[in-house]
Amino acid sequence: MSSAQPMKIVAIGGSVRPRSSTELALRAVLAAAAERGAETTLFSGPDLLLPPYEPGAVDARGRHMLAAIEAADAVVLGSPGYHGTVSGLVKNAIDHLEELRGGSRCYLDGIPIGCVATAYGWQAAVNTLGTLRVLAHSLRGWPTPLGIALNMAGPGVFAEDGSVLEPSVGDSVRIMADQLMSFGRIPAVAPS
Ligand SMILES: Cc1cc2nc3c(=O)[nH]c(=O)nc-3n(C[C@H](O)[C@H](O)[C@H](O)COP(=O)(O)O)c2cc1C
Repeated sequence: MSSAQPMKIVAIGGSVRPRSSTELALRAVLAAAAERGAETTLFSGPDLLLPPYEPGAVDARGRHMLAAIEAADAVVLGSPGYHGTVSGLVKNAIDHLEELRGGSRCYLDGIPIGCVATAYGWQAAVNTLGTLRVLAHSLRGWPTPLGIALNMAGPGVFAEDGSVLEPSVGDSVRIMADQLMSFGRIPAVAPS
């Protein structure tokens, strides 16, 4: 990637709930990345209302999302913890990435992946973050050293306007943006 070209970062996740906290967290990471010069795209809320993934039968909305991911230099995955793990809505969107297996880059090979989880308690938040990191690995990506788990049952994480209220969360968001953008691209190793 030439230094003249902005880094492209795509985030996928959230819920269809108005004022989804997961979406707010993804927006915060993307805003921090944009401040650092990245070009950012978010797929959240209604963007995730894709039909259940069927190999080879992706609709126009799904193809649009996949084209953005294929061109991305880094990806951020975000999910609420539903019954202790990644929500079906987010998992279905991630299942669509199967279409990238035979693409110009196999899945998310060699790029950094930020993982963000929210839940109404630490147990599901941390478990969901762990599952997102497993998904990132299985897609051949590199989870950033810092993942973000947010307990929405705790004191105000976000302000009314959606901005980050809790200073430690702001720090995590900035560190994740730094890690996504300083990672660089690791060339895929050709099989011998
Ligand atoms: C179907 C469903 C299942 C949930 N399961 C859990 C859970 O197991 N543990 C937990 O701490 N919170 C659980 N929650 C709460 C959500 O994880 C939490 O409110 C989250 O921040 C919602 O994300 P959102 O604001 O992006 O929609 C659940 C919520 C729903 C709707």
